[in-house]
Amino acid sequence: MKERVCDIGLFGLGVMGRNFVLNMADRGFSVGVYNRTDQKTREFMERDVKDRNIQAGYTVKDFLSLLRPPRSVLISVPAGDPVDAVIDEITLGLEPGDLIVDMGNSHFSDTDRRYQTLTQKRWHFLGMGISGGEYGARHGPSLMPGGSSEGYERIRAVMEASAAQVDKTPCVAYLGPGSAGHYVKMVHNGIEYGIMQLIAETYDLMKRGMAYNADQLHAVYDVWNQGELKSYLMEITSEIFLKNDEKTKNPLVDMILDHARQKGTGKWTSVEALEHQVPAPTIHAGVGARDMSVYKDERKRASETLRGPHGNDPHLDKHFVDHLKNALYVGMVGCYAQGMALMKQADKTYEDALDLETVATIWRGGCIIRAEMLENIRNAYHRQPDLSNLLLDPRFSEDLGARQEDLRHVVCTAARLGIPAPALMTSLAYYDGYRSERLPANLIMAQRDYFGAHRYERLDESGTFHAQWAESEVKG
Ligand code: 6PG
Repeated sequence: MKERVCDIGLFGLGVMGRNFVLNMADRGFSVGVYNRTDQKTREFMERDVKDRNIQAGYTVKDFLSLLRPPRSVLISVPAGDPVDAVIDEITLGLEPGDLIVDMGNSHFSDTDRRYQTLTQKRWHFLGMGISGGEYGARHGPSLMPGGSSEGYERIRAVMEASAAQVDKTPCVAYLGPGSAGHYVKMVHNGIEYGIMQLIAETYDLMKRGMAYNADQLHAVYDVWNQGELKSYLMEITSEIFLKNDEKTKNPLVDMILDHARQKGTGKWTSVEALEHQVPAPTIHAGVGARDMSVYKDERKRASETLRGPHGNDPHLDKHFVDHLKNALYVGMVGCYAQGMALMKQADKTYEDALDLETVATIWRGGCIIRAEMLENIRNAYHRQPDLSNLLLDPRFSEDLGARQEDLRHVVCTAARLGIPAPALMTSLAYYDGYRSERLPANLIMAQRDYFGAHRYERLDESGTFHAQWAESEVKG
């Protein structure tokens, strides 16, 4: 049996696992690894490990014996049943006080269940979201751990060294008990869906509305990426337009089927927002637009049947591109605001531990939604930790006030041209809804009371009331 020398172990040498192992080893930590298929482990050891301090186990028992007690085992396998299967397998060889860390995109309710069960059995458990894809895992991801705080302290040095760094601050922090880490990762992905859809709509408006070609689109996103929209998603969008298809020589993006797949983490955020009654229309629009994209064949048939304008306006010029830029800014801020508002609401479940300044801090680097504006978001929560909505931060309310006309213009243009822009449109509705002191919900209440005697409250008196709306009470 080998010596128990490794600082940390990782189970699952898929793309994320392999890259994270190399990352940790490059930061000076010794890592024990295991994968179910021996061949994958052998290939990794022969091809990638070189002189790094990485040791492999070829049975779970061997793997666990490589780790220095109390042991810390990271799991990097697909979310769902595989995580439970791995936990069942490794816990057979663990001792009380050992730590298990699930690094997958697990649903927070699964993480809660695992946290309860494992904690009862005196193991430490962390659900840790990881963002940044393969490159992030290798060179510095954003890490979102939650669960056992004692467990986190044990791996803190490794995680802080391996995470992305912004202004010498690591993009990792303990986020709270139970499933706090996976909850934050879920919201990250909801925001990711919303922003991706907003960008896609600006693309559609320039491509269909203005007949912009790939070079022009590249140039626009490239310029946008140098200003207040600077972000990872803007950067990769600009680069996407540079890539040509080897087969047809067309821009590759033009050859890609317009059917957006998803693993569902954005949808989880939407469901959670609905569950908590937190308005998150831009995130819903991101999910819904992917759903609409699925119906390619039906859309093709409907495009031949349903009437409407056909999308092009020769008069749109570079001024419209400026409107788009500002509209996108409003939409993006709205997306972060919706995600933050959801976490503020969910915070009650996490014993008031979810600190939104911390979340914004660890999203500044490494993750998919990293963006220049997160610095301002972080500052907003630093100034007012209890800020009820990001839109109310003086800096953002000023910015949005100065740009809301651009969003109106863009939304009107999209409607006039018949180009669907659900995320931009709902971003405007979110902004207008939030700033409307009076909404037509009074009529909804009147209708409910009319058909169902559900009662209503009054503006001028407390209590609940029911009215006799018609001669005969029952109309439904
Ligand atoms: C990240 C990504 C990552 C992954 C998503 C894709 O933060 O690194 O969000 O988790 O790319 O799972 O999600 P969809 O398949 O749902 O688009």
